[in-house]
Amino acid sequence: MSALQLPGHPHVHYQHEQLHVEGCNLKALVAAHGTPLFVYSKASMLEALAAYQRGFAGRNARVCYAMKANSTLAVLQLFAKAGCGFDIVSGGELARVLAAGAQADKVIFSGVGKTRDEMRVALKAGIGCFNVESEAEIDVLNEVAVGLGVQAPISIRVNPNVDPKTHPYISTGLKGNKFGIAHERTLLTYQRAAAFAGLKVVGIDCHIGSQITEETPYLDAMDRMLDIVESIEAAGIPIHHIDFGGGLGINYNGDTPPAADALWQKLLAKLDARGFGQRQLMIEPGRSLVGNAGVCVTEVLYMKPGEQKNFCIVDAAMNDLPRPAMYQAFHAIVPLQQTSGNAATTVVDVVGPVCESGDWIGHDRNLAVQSGDHLAVLSAGAYCMSMSSNYNSRPKAAEVLVDGAQSHLIRQRDSFADQVRGESLL
Ligand code: LLP
Repeated sequence: MSALQLPGHPHVHYQHEQLHVEGCNLKALVAAHGTPLFVYSKASMLEALAAYQRGFAGRNARVCYAMKANSTLAVLQLFAKAGCGFDIVSGGELARVLAAGAQADKVIFSGVGKTRDEMRVALKAGIGCFNVESEAEIDVLNEVAVGLGVQAPISIRVNPNVDPKTHPYISTGLKGNKFGIAHERTLLTYQRAAAFAGLKVVGIDCHIGSQITEETPYLDAMDRMLDIVESIEAAGIPIHHIDFGGGLGINYNGDTPPAADALWQKLLAKLDARGFGQRQLMIEPGRSLVGNAGVCVTEVLYMKPGEQKNFCIVDAAMNDLPRPAMYQAFHAIVPLQQTSGNAATTVVDVVGPVCESGDWIGHDRNLAVQSGDHLAVLSAGAYCMSMSSNYNSRPKAAEVLVDGAQSHLIRQRDSFADQVRGESLL
């Protein structure tokens, strides 16, 4: 029987009616490691990166993986080896990415609430750039840098006031959002920053949102950014690099985001037309590098038919897969064992064991499963493990990275000792 590919997931397919990631049968991985189990395709991550690299061929550009999407060490190591820089938002992320082998000077530090300690550690490590998000942060960063006798390289994150047309919780470039500096105040802020002894202006930055599936918001944001760069440079402050943030969406439910290389062809044409083609570029993609490289395998514990709803209770929950509960997000759910076309299906809500009605993974799914069967939740490579928790004292799941026919356990399932480390009885 020929392999059946799943849409949007280049390396997840049925072979002999069993779901595989690359050359690994998920059933065998479950037998070895249990459930819930995250499984990632290495080839898929590298291909997603290659699309950006193709888009930037011949340009002075750097892909800084936004590691909040998936910050597991082996995933970071993979991207570091492939030449990526990283976008971080905390001291914890800095420590992780350095432990995974990243070069500090390829790291950029975003986020609205950096602490003095985080700034100090990042300056001592020699990170490439701080993406500064407020006027107050500029003052504090200057003080910290002067205290260390160094200059902090900075970009100012501009809020271009562009609607990315995505979920309100993941829109970041609108006036009402907490991020960046209003574009009307940008020039003033640059002029202030340029006068500080502890700061060195190196770039400009924006990030308008996440899971963006249209190209227009990017093109609009780029126009705004370039207008601003022109005004800053006219005031005598050179901008060495332009960082366009991340945000490119993936296919969760028939979404059709532009391919990274096609999108960048258009954006680069605009940069060229406006005379910025040779400027150093940076981007901060997260989801689009890892999202569709991962699945989360879960076991069906109980089928619970009801008058209004049928429930399929699985052993993964909102602590493992928080996106449905937080954003009403859709993740496709498929069985590990492919069912024949005429198998009787039932419409079920796929839910977890956590004691909350918000603990659901999929509503109204057509599935032919019974207890003991396994399901794979798709598009689970981004913002799942990195947002997971121990709620209900549930252990964090295990993770496996697949490379062809080989699999590597890259995170063990939490033990009880892991969960209570650092706690003490009275
Ligand atoms: N750069 C900055 C400054 C960001 O805030 C983010 C994401 C990124 C880059 C990467 O964006 P991406 O390429 O992954 O869209 N937890 C939410 C997504 C939150 C995104 C936060 N910022 C979700 O599960 O949909």
